[in-house]
Amino acid sequence: MPDIETTAAAAANEGAATPIIEMSHVDKHYGQLHVLNDINLSVEKGEVLVLIGPSGSGKSTLCRTINRLETIDSGEIKIDGTPLPQEGRELAALRAEVGMVFQSFNLFAHKSILQNVTMGPIEVLHTPKAQAEEEAMELLRRVGVAEQANKVPAQLSGGQQQRVAIARSLAMHPKAMLFDEPTSALDPEMINEVLDVMVELAQEGMTMVVVTHEMNFARRVANRVVFMADGQIVEQAAPDEFFDHPKSERARDFLNSIKGH
Ligand SMILES: Nc1ncnc2c1ncn2[C@@H]1O[C@H](COP(=O)(O)OP(=O)(O)OP(=O)(O)O)[C@@H](O)[C@H]1O
Ligand SMILES: [Mg+2]
Repeated sequence: MPDIETTAAAAANEGAATPIIEMSHVDKHYGQLHVLNDINLSVEKGEVLVLIGPSGSGKSTLCRTINRLETIDSGEIKIDGTPLPQEGRELAALRAEVGMVFQSFNLFAHKSILQNVTMGPIEVLHTPKAQAEEEAMELLRRVGVAEQANKVPAQLSGGQQQRVAIARSLAMHPKAMLFDEPTSALDPEMINEVLDVMVELAQEGMTMVVVTHEMNFARRVANRVVFMADGQIVEQAAPDEFFDHPKSERARDFLNSIKGH
């Protein structure tokens, strides 16, 4: 008979091994289009996964299924061991567990920066207003836009707005963050200020899935690069391995096609 301590240790071990995001045999169609084809993907706690692939390969769709902005036809997606429910209150709670940052910042135009960040915690997590504001200000400081707290989004640059969008997601205390081309809509001089925030998040141990064309970021920060084409995961490897020795012809073609950019 195992004693209580070994049992507890085994349980703790088991907990550590539970992936934060786990997709098993996930399929999705848009009409005739097989947009996700038997996707199997686990993201461990603290892992930074960069998802790349040609336009239309299904990267955004994959991200959107993870927090149920899109439904799936079959297969299973678990967040921290819990299968995603189809709808209702539980879904809202689970959605809050995975933050998502898009190419377009999607801030509420008529609310202040501070209100944009406090809304979720107040309305969904029922955090008292004063506490939500205190936490929001701390997050806004962290992403370098605390001075902008009382402005509205249109008064901020794109890079600043995107950093607010990151702070807004973090305010919900997510277990993981999804980034879908967060710097693609930004002027070049603003890209790094957003990437720097993401690098810091990664270093602090946030579990992240990042769709990006920023290959330097991928090389520097990713634990793993996942390459998708035609709705399938074609190959995955550590960044240096993937970029220096891509195995599939699809990946080689893709890397050549983006080289000049
Ligand atoms: N709501 C939808 N209805 C029908 N087809 C869709 C829908 N959303 C996406 N698609 C199609 O699914 C495929 C995958 O789209 P998705 O946006 O996931 O690709 P992506 O890899 O993110 O591409 P990009 O690099 O251009 O952002 C594309 O062929 C797209 O046209
Ligand atoms: Mg996309």
